Amino acid sequence: MLEKNNTPGKLIIVEGIDGSGKSTQIDLLYKWLQTQGQSVYFSEWNSSGLVKSTTKLAKKRKLFTPTTFSLLQCTDFADRWENRILPMLKAGVIVLADRYAFTAFGRDVARGVDRKWVRNLYSFALQPDIAIYFRVPLDIAIQRITSARAKLKYYEAGMDLNLSDSRIQSFKLFQERILNEYDRMVDEFNLTIIDGSLTVQAQQRLVREIVKQELKGWKGLPIPEGSPHVRLQAEISAETGGR
Ligand SMILES: Nc1ncnc2c1ncn2[C@@H]1O[C@H](COP(=O)(O)OP(=O)(O)OP(=O)(O)O)[C@@H](O)[C@H]1O
Ligand SMILES: [Mg+2]
Repeated sequence: MLEKNNTPGKLIIVEGIDGSGKSTQIDLLYKWLQTQGQSVYFSEWNSSGLVKSTTKLAKKRKLFTPTTFSLLQCTDFADRWENRILPMLKAGVIVLADRYAFTAFGRDVARGVDRKWVRNLYSFALQPDIAIYFRVPLDIAIQRITSARAKLKYYEAGMDLNLSDSRIQSFKLFQERILNEYDRMVDEFNLTIIDGSLTVQAQQRLVREIVKQELKGWKGLPIPEGSPHVRLQAEISAETGGR
């Protein structure tokens, strides 16, 4: 159980295994909300500058254990949470997150980390107003990933788990475990399932319906010129190239 979001902002997050279509859908949602005149902030998993070099080094040298990987990714999330996401929510902004704590609950547990322990680690996070789980059969996700990407990376394929010497086989087994974890989380965290095997357009229609429903009667907050939020938004915009 995560605590309810009592801030004036709205938190909308997407989850699903690799290649389930999360980024495609949240990107379209982001643009659509902007055209509706909404103030939107986007945050991506594993994108904090605070631990970037450490994460890169540990991946390159294969230094991570399941626990250190989990702790570092949680630090990345906590940095974004405290310095970006929560201030934005408090300012009445719609925050969109490409992956959330549930990614850690899936991946870290698939790596052998204790379910309760990792949930406790992220207990500072709030329950999103909307948490969409793009559910796709493993084969479809794998097909999409392998045709879109040159080579699966070591940790991405779960090679640290010694499931198989073949990267693709290891990836399949790893993603299968994560898929099982996601399925367990549907009721636990009230995830809204969208069939990720539908077309991009069909899924986006469903996403917008869900979001429209949630935003009905919600006005956000008026944003005074020169407020800390406006400055923060401008700063981040400059950092991320206007995203
Ligand atoms: N509904 C769809 N039908 C067919 N292909 C799709 C669909 N949605 C996304 N794709 C394609 O599948 C690939 C993976 O999509 P996307 O990057 O959105 O997935 P993701 O869930 O964000 O993956 P990751 O977890 O690796 O970031 C991309 O090449 C994308 O163009
Ligand atoms: Mg993505």
